[in-house]
Amino acid sequence: MLDMMRDPLGAPFFPVVFQVLLVVTWVLHIHFVTGAIGASTFSIFAYLRRDPNLMRLGRITARLTPNMVGLGIVTGIAPLLFVQVIYDPLWYAANTLTGFWSVTFIFVVMGGYSLAYLFYLKGSQDGRLLWSAVASLILLCFAGWVMHVLQSVSIRPDQWMGWYAPGGVIDTRGIQFHAYDVPRLMFMLPLQGGLSFAATLMFVAWYLRQRADADPGFLHWTAGIGRRIGLGVAPLYGVFGLFWAFTEGPEFGLTMFIAGVALVLSVGLFAFFWSQAKQPVQAGARALGVWALALLVVATTREVIRAVSLNRFDFSVANYPYIIDWGSVLMFGVTSVVGVSVVTYLIMVIYQSGLSADGTVSVRAERFGRVATAMLGAWFGFFVLVGLYSSLFLR
Ligand code: HEM
Repeated sequence: MLDMMRDPLGAPFFPVVFQVLLVVTWVLHIHFVTGAIGASTFSIFAYLRRDPNLMRLGRITARLTPNMVGLGIVTGIAPLLFVQVIYDPLWYAANTLTGFWSVTFIFVVMGGYSLAYLFYLKGSQDGRLLWSAVASLILLCFAGWVMHVLQSVSIRPDQWMGWYAPGGVIDTRGIQFHAYDVPRLMFMLPLQGGLSFAATLMFVAWYLRQRADADPGFLHWTAGIGRRIGLGVAPLYGVFGLFWAFTEGPEFGLTMFIAGVALVLSVGLFAFFWSQAKQPVQAGARALGVWALALLVVATTREVIRAVSLNRFDFSVANYPYIIDWGSVLMFGVTSVVGVSVVTYLIMVIYQSGLSADGTVSVRAERFGRVATAMLGAWFGFFVLVGLYSSLFLR
């Protein structure tokens, strides 16, 4: 059945390349969405406590939240595309069996983003609009829950028929949460939320220290809070990783593997945060790098679980049919180069203007920006031409 449900055209390039891209891009996605959950939780806490330093940082994190949600949504599209190329039977089956929630998900994410933005824009120190931050956090967590259910349904094809037609009667409502593993979700969402946020706080302090008007005392305090959150969450990360190993692991014969990964990550992260007591501000960029590596391990672990589950039915990315379609490869390649250049330019502008007193950027960045936007313009033009050509001549 899984083979029958694959795209009959096959993948347009070596399937394993999509698998690697899926794992790597998911790291970005999960960092931003969980970081948003951490930042949102911290803002709510800060606005409730109203301590001056906490409030100052709370305002920064209230601004960080919608930014991170936006980046999380955008970077979620990349793994979504790759998952649809090599795991299409799973993805579409999971989305159909959970149809009501996968459509609702879009509105949940829209609401989560808009409310976080409202709170950043209009929320005030006396706690006005705090409800919007709380509602946003609830919606974002719910979005994570839906993602997790989709993932859990997708890796259990042996149960699809039973969920589709329980007792032989077809259920088209798509309203049931058919599969989930709460420890896995705790590991993936709130705990990674704490760790993403911890690394981000240290990074923010590291970045802001370069400003002419930097307040070293405040930045040291901020990085210290990030480090302490990391120290507090890392052991829990290990504990819930073990629960995950002993709940989901046995089903796929991966208990020891998941347990080992969770322990190594938990101990490694704890040791890292512990060792940065003296100069947490200086460690900011390193903290983000270490956290990215940890997420890469988690992303690979998720992929191993999926591969092992599907191997039981002889479905493997290694034998996914493909025909190299150089047109698609070229489109994808050039779009990536153009897109990455424009994004790099935006990052340079944000980075440099945030550091200079009057918001200026270097001549080099400006020159690079001109090239990147010209490439984007040319690429738009090319797309219009391809569209015209295919509508007029290929009919
Ligand atoms: C903004 C709220 C969101 C949250 C909190 C969230 C959270 C998560 C979590 C926790 C997972 C991992 C689930 C697991 O392994 O058990 C996940 C996976 C995923 N997310 Fe999101 N997500 C959000 C939005 C989005 C959006 C808007 C997209 C697409 C545009 C997206 C695309 C994906 C994809 C494709 C996967 C699975 C990749 C795979 O199967 O390997 N997410 N997300």
